[in-house]
Amino acid sequence: MKDTLLKAINEAGNLMKESFNGVFKITHKEGINNLVTEVDQACERLITKIIKEKFPDHGIVGEEYGEHDMQARYKWIVDPIDGTVNFAHGVPLCCVSIGLMDGNTMIMGAVYNPLMNELFFAEKGKGAFLNDNPIRVSKNRELERAFLVTGFPYHFPIGKNPFSIFERLVTSGIPVRRLGSAALDLCWVACGRFDGFWEYNLNPWDVAAGYLIVEEAGGTVTDFYNKTNSIWDKETLATNGLIHEDLRAEIIA
Ligand code: IPD
Ligand code: CA
Ligand code: CA
Ligand code: CA
Repeated sequence: MKDTLLKAINEAGNLMKESFNGVFKITHKEGINNLVTEVDQACERLITKIIKEKFPDHGIVGEEYGEHDMQARYKWIVDPIDGTVNFAHGVPLCCVSIGLMDGNTMIMGAVYNPLMNELFFAEKGKGAFLNDNPIRVSKNRELERAFLVTGFPYHFPIGKNPFSIFERLVTSGIPVRRLGSAALDLCWVACGRFDGFWEYNLNPWDVAAGYLIVEEAGGTVTDFYNKTNSIWDKETLATNGLIHEDLRAEIIA
């Protein structure tokens, strides 16, 4: 299964790279800035083909083509391009993300940004890697010294205002970035570039691989109320573990 995961992510990543800055059709989902390109669709079709050739009875949950074979023991959770808006504008912060579940347990995940030549990979119990080198989360214990990243959903659910958290942190002088790819946000926490990441309203394909990569790099992932995180939940808080409680307290304040 590892070979198939790596084959699928490499081939889809190469397709994304070949198409980057090229000419491709862009359509809109709900909302004029919620884009999908024909490259997203082609990448998902390619990944599905590679998986189904080897494992015809495995399930697939993909952003663009939905769910197939949900009763299967093994399910592949696929974001063919995470950071589509960046991709469509020629910003090289985008990636392919694939996670593999056995029952309810994520057992393997990979996130590939071919434009930076960075492949993140983790296998449950075996650590996390960036281009085959082991990675660890940062060692910073202090929220005041933290370097954070967040994201905003395309649609804000009524009654939720993610800007209040953002404003509180930024006005207290803490540097917060917004890259536009949740999968990369998680991997950049895993490799210690950021100390923490939070976002509201993510989908399973945004986080499936990234959660495992953060956890295998020694980090902590929960929702905003400290439950162990599930990729089906809507809230994401991923940190180096050391600032987790302090950042969580700010988020729910
Ligand atoms: C989006 C990105 C973005 C996040 C959005 C996601 P997409 O995924 O991960 O960073 O803020 O909520 O939907 O649409 O580019 O695959
Ligand atoms: Ca999308
Ligand atoms: Ca996504
Ligand atoms: Ca996507």
